Amino acid sequence: MYYVDKKIEDLHRIFDQNERKDYLRLDLNENPGGLPQEFINSVLAGITPQDLSQYPETLHFSEVLARYLDTDISHICLVNGSAEGIRYIIQAFTSEGGRIVGVVPSYFMFQIYSQMYGRNFVKVPYEEDLSMNIEKIIEEMTDDTQLLILLNPNNPMGNVYSDNEFEKILSVARQKQITILVDEAYHYFYPKTFMKYALEGDHIFITRTFSKLFSLAGCRLGYVAGWPEGVKMVQKLCTPHNTNAFALRFAEALLESPDMIEKLIAGFKEGRAFLIDELDKNGYIHKGEAGNFIFIKPKTDAQRIVDQMKREKRILIKSYPNVGELGDCLRVSIGEKQYMNQFMKALIELDASKTLLPRYYQMRCRD
Ligand SMILES: Cc1ncc(COP(=O)(O)O)c(C=O)c1O
Repeated sequence: MYYVDKKIEDLHRIFDQNERKDYLRLDLNENPGGLPQEFINSVLAGITPQDLSQYPETLHFSEVLARYLDTDISHICLVNGSAEGIRYIIQAFTSEGGRIVGVVPSYFMFQIYSQMYGRNFVKVPYEEDLSMNIEKIIEEMTDDTQLLILLNPNNPMGNVYSDNEFEKILSVARQKQITILVDEAYHYFYPKTFMKYALEGDHIFITRTFSKLFSLAGCRLGYVAGWPEGVKMVQKLCTPHNTNAFALRFAEALLESPDMIEKLIAGFKEGRAFLIDELDKNGYIHKGEAGNFIFIKPKTDAQRIVDQMKREKRILIKSYPNVGELGDCLRVSIGEKQYMNQFMKALIELDASKTLLPRYYQMRCRD
């Protein structure tokens, strides 16, 4: 008998197969500049035919990563991008119809996976002033909640949690036996981490990625950190040889190049300072405490600016509707200064007075 899972049939996914190479990509929180070419060349020079012909060996890299995190390999599971780890945590630690609590807006895959597996995703919305009231999170942590998802910092809101807030949430989770997943995809752009809770306690996972500051989104590599029994469950769900040999080589070289990591952070900080200064000088309201992304309230129409940025300036950014009291916003990834300069020039030009806009947009703006 033919069968298709109704949950999958009903699932709405967007497959981004666009040709994006020729654009300045400031829409997916990648590092637009990437790693230095000399670094790439030096890693590639060490790749042998066997690296390609044989299944990747993960033990060595797992040990390097464990040393980097000051733990041992029983606490980590390598995944093909942290999105894969998130999926397995949801699959293993919640049941059909099970209650998952998460803040919104945030990374959309939490809701997609919940729907895919028939889980009940309960949303905790941000306040109008774009802050997160942790009492609202705690209120939703009911006895039947199986998983709480937090992001440190959150994409796209850029907010973070203090130690006190986190420990308060954690004590409720302990009392009610709720597993916690903290997504730290944007670690390094914001250095404070809750990793020690995942490595020292139980029923708390941290997911991290090499796609953001480490600039390896094209290689696909992330990891889940947690207590050994929990990590084993995640490992059981992985497809065989789920990570690739190139990703492991690049990631190892990065972890062993603290100077390179420092340089990436410094380049990002310089770009961020430049962008914020330019936005302030040009009278823009913006929001984004932590992370390599920022909300900008445009002076004219957000969606029109996104469209024109793409068409005329070959820059990809996103628009977000109803961002609390800011209303419709642009969401822009932060990269090195040269890219922020290119973006700012385009923004100032495209977000100018309505009278300069093409007739179609003048009409839309008036509506
Ligand atoms: C908050 C968050 N978590 C996880 C991911 C997934 O990252 P990856 O699968 O590349 O590791 C992203 C990607 O944008 C993200 O924004």
